Amino acid sequence: MTLPDKIAIGADHAGFELKEQLKAYLEGLNIEIHDYGTHSPESVDYPDFAHPVANAIENNTFRFGILICGTANGIAMAANKHQGIRAAIAWKSEIAKMARSHNDANIICLPARFIDEEEAIQCVHTFFTTDFEGGRHERRVDKISC
Ligand code: RB5
Repeated sequence: MTLPDKIAIGADHAGFELKEQLKAYLEGLNIEIHDYGTHSPESVDYPDFAHPVANAIENNTFRFGILICGTANGIAMAANKHQGIRAAIAWKSEIAKMARSHNDANIICLPARFIDEEEAIQCVHTFFTTDFEGGRHERRVDKISC
């Protein structure tokens, strides 16, 4: 898979700095980034950023998103409340790869307090260049919705 043309991104205060770093990296690759905030390190609530990014994917404005908070747990929990969202937490590129190849994830959730910029870039790059394998994994992904 080639890198997408555009990506939605969002983070809370814990993920703000890493969001800015990833934005700079991805914009350097000529990818259009829609930044749903937060726009400063001031304390905020992670669902306020997870839901807009998830909505934008749910309504097909974007195919893929990146969400970042301290652990990635809160932001993934909020995003996964949305129909059609498969938000996967990744902290190493092998996990990011399998989130796409096995789970057809459409949002990568990064734990800013537990990875550095280089690891985050590796995760994001792997996530966005890996195809869903389909086959037996498609049957399993179809069973996720209830
Ligand atoms: C914020 O302190 C922190 O709770 C948040 O970034 C995230 O880790 C929640 O899951």
